[in-house]
Amino acid sequence: MEQTFIMIKPDGVQRGLVGEIIGRFEKKGFSLKGLKLISVDRAFAEKHYADLSAKPFFNGLVEYIISGPVVAMIWEGKNVVVTGRKIIGATNPSDAAPGTIRGEYAIDIGRNVIHGSDSVESARKEIGLWFPDGAVPWRSNLE
Ligand code: CMP
Repeated sequence: MEQTFIMIKPDGVQRGLVGEIIGRFEKKGFSLKGLKLISVDRAFAEKHYADLSAKPFFNGLVEYIISGPVVAMIWEGKNVVVTGRKIIGATNPSDAAPGTIRGEYAIDIGRNVIHGSDSVESARKEIGLWFPDGAVPWRSNLE
């Protein structure tokens, strides 16, 4: 089953949006397969955003990601990469449709609340970086 990596960024955590964001993914029908509140260091943030290292906003982006704890998650379900990006909305909150997370809760591209993998391949890499032990093993005694 397809998985994606979703990160609630420091502004989303600080503004108390964690429950709201998790609720949206749960209510859509996706399954939570990994979750941690974590503060990352500069080297880790640079690795996560390595593809953007030539961009003029790279240093500011890294500073922002290390400015406070983030919530890192693995979500699973049919077409979760593409559908997750639709739930999140456009990267620039000014372009994000009303009803999407960024459309409802952000105004600044540099403080856009949440990250979601942009492809199945990126999801595989990002899950490997953030969850080196993989997803939480699923076992239920609730029969
Ligand atoms: P994210 O989905 O985490 O992927 C890359 C991030 O780079 C993006 O969200 C934004 O937070 C950030 N970003 C992209 N473009 C710009 C920009 N022009 N200025 C500042 N930050 C940007």
